[in-house]
Order: sequence, then structure tokens, then C-alpha cells
Amino acid sequence: MRKKLFAANWKMFKTPAEATAFTDSFLPHVANQSKAEVVLCPSMTSLGTVIAAAKGTQVKVGAQTMDYHDNGAFTGETSPLMLKAVGATHVILGHSERRQYFNETDTSVNLKLKAALAHSLIPIVCVGEHREERESGQTNEVLKLQVEIALEGIDAAAAAPLVIAYEPVWAIGTGLTATPEMAAEAHKFIRAEIAKALGAERAASTRILYGGSVKPDNAAALCALEDIDGALVGGASLDPKSFHDIIRNGCA
Ligand code: PGA
Repeated sequence: MRKKLFAANWKMFKTPAEATAFTDSFLPHVANQSKAEVVLCPSMTSLGTVIAAAKGTQVKVGAQTMDYHDNGAFTGETSPLMLKAVGATHVILGHSERRQYFNETDTSVNLKLKAALAHSLIPIVCVGEHREERESGQTNEVLKLQVEIALEGIDAAAAAPLVIAYEPVWAIGTGLTATPEMAAEAHKFIRAEIAKALGAERAASTRILYGGSVKPDNAAALCALEDIDGALVGGASLDPKSFHDIIRNGCA
């Protein structure tokens, strides 16, 4: 049985004061709910604030990216060791904006995934095709490569905490959502690829989230699908009521 997971990706939004305004309003609604795992991923500068606010609740806190070294001369980066030390439990890896603007590749995602697992951080690895790739019928090919390379050299037992997020790039921040049929097909395909890399048992227990313009009014239809185990939410997670509604509708 896969427990649903709803993760808020705040991207480069919210100062610590704004993050506090969000948690003040959001946490009372979800603090004790145990139906789903709820994770807030603020910017690095709000990580400590949100972790302190969520302490003693069921809500977990993660980072939006990290480096794979423990420490070193890597100006501006944050290591898994540092995330663990401040109390983060999750980390988003390979988000399409990181791939597009910060040169992340499948290979660096693989290194980061290994580092996250080694440090007991729950990795949320993002994969997804661009619009041109879907239109030219390359979706499966793209997803296959992304999953294959991300999971290279990863042991099935060590991958127990692994979470994958399917985020079609053309659906991120655009208001366009994959139809439930498209999402169902992609999730099924990704699960089959996980099975090739890690075995059927691990594939069956791995959560695959959908991301890309998830809103309160489409969360129920998407999350009702067999292979969709929750959502990675950008824009609609910035508002406490809308993120709470997504969790409620997605769990219905
Ligand atoms: P969106 O972003 O919900 O604003 O489309 C999703 C994401 O980038 O994770």
C-alpha cells in the first residue's frame, strides 16, 4: 500500500516572514492528518523557519535541490549533510527548472540521488518530457532515459524511500495539465522502467507523483488513478487554502 504524498514546491517564492504566514494558516488544518504525507519545500533561507514551525506535526520539510558532496569548495551550494543537520527530511532532485537553468543532467541527478539515499533524505526525483518531445512521439523514450540514468547503480533495498515525480515540462506553470489518460499512461510506463532497474517489488512500492498545474479542481481526478500516488505542486501550493484543498481532494 503506497501512502499518498503531497509536496509543495515553493520555488523562489516567500521570505521567512511570508513562510511563517503560510504555516500559521496551513498547519492547523493538516497537523494531525495521517492519510497522506505532506511535505513543504521552501527556499533554503526559509528552511529553518518552516522546520521550526512544523516541529511536532505530521508535516515534513524538504529542500528544492542540493549538491551531492558532503562539503567542499562549492560556493553557493548546500550539502545533504547540511540539510539533515537542520532537520530537512526530503529533497527534490532534477526539477525541470534546475535542468533548464542550472545545467542539471541525468548524470548529476544520479549522483545526487545516491547522496540523498546515503544520508537518509527522501528523494523526489523529477522526470518529464518537453512539449516538442511529446508532439514528436518521444515521450516514452525521454522518460526511459531519465529513469534509467537516475537509477543507475542504485540498489533496490537502498531505494526504498525513493519517490519519482512525473512532471511534463509543458504542464509546469502553464495551466495546462496532462489529461488523466496521458498521466496514467506515463505513470504506468515509469513504473515499468523502475521495475527494470530495481525489480518488480520495489517498483510496486515506489510512489510516483504527478506534477504540472495541479489545482484543487483537478487533484481528485488525477490522484484517483491507480499509478498516481500524490502530487508535486508549484503555484497552487503558495496559498495555504489551495494546497490544503488539493490534499483533501487528492485523498478523497
Ligand atoms: P506548477 O509547478 O504546479 O506551478 O505547475 C509544478 C512544479 O514545478 O513542481
